[in-house]
Amino acid sequence: MTGIVIAIDGPAGTGKSTVSREVATRLGLAYFDTGATYRVATLACLKEGVDFSRTSDVAAMVATMNVELVLDPGAPRVLLDGEDVSRQIRTDTVALTVSKVATNLEARPILQEMQRTVIRHELEAGFSRGRGVCAEGRDITTVIAPEADVRVLMTADDEVRVARRAGEGADRMTVREAVLGRDRRDSAVVSFHEAADGVHTLDTTDLTIEEAVRAVISLAHEAQ
Ligand code: C5P
Repeated sequence: MTGIVIAIDGPAGTGKSTVSREVATRLGLAYFDTGATYRVATLACLKEGVDFSRTSDVAAMVATMNVELVLDPGAPRVLLDGEDVSRQIRTDTVALTVSKVATNLEARPILQEMQRTVIRHELEAGFSRGRGVCAEGRDITTVIAPEADVRVLMTADDEVRVARRAGEGADRMTVREAVLGRDRRDSAVVSFHEAADGVHTLDTTDLTIEEAVRAVISLAHEAQ
């Protein structure tokens, strides 16, 4: 018996990460945040002073960086050269730069292959002991795991997504640019606004996290 694969895509602010983690927790699955691979690659380049306009240099860094991912939905972690960089990859600097790696057509296939390998290993033996994985990102339903048992595209109105990201006192215009600007830049290479054939759309504009989690879990039950 092989484990279940749940693939969840969508832009920032749809609740994708929170929902994916919670689904993984409740179903005893590994949680794979593929965005973290782009973020840690960006951090590695920033630390080494790699010029992002030199696409081959970025790809070389991506191919040789020493990254370890912990797929525990209770405490997902990313290690770079053995150092826990889980917080560093969430800084504004990384968020504003990450699209340069995501749209680098030499680096992207290397990260995509790494992601497929992570999922394959997880299904063989990993955190979930073969129960499976909930993987989230932008191209999981279409490119990384098009054969996944459950494929969901999470969407939400732009204003709702911006509001969810705007914390207390955060400058709304900065958050707006961070969310919508990143979507725009990412859209250059990956399409995540329209569901591909066979992919369920889950519009979370008027849903609570709990409702969205239940919707994904019921799709998982139907698939099994
Ligand atoms: O999901 P998160 O916001 O952490 O993703 C960070 C960035 O990684 C995205 O803005 C996008 O540039 C890139 N990404 C991607 N494909 C994925 C996941 C993330 O291009 N599957």
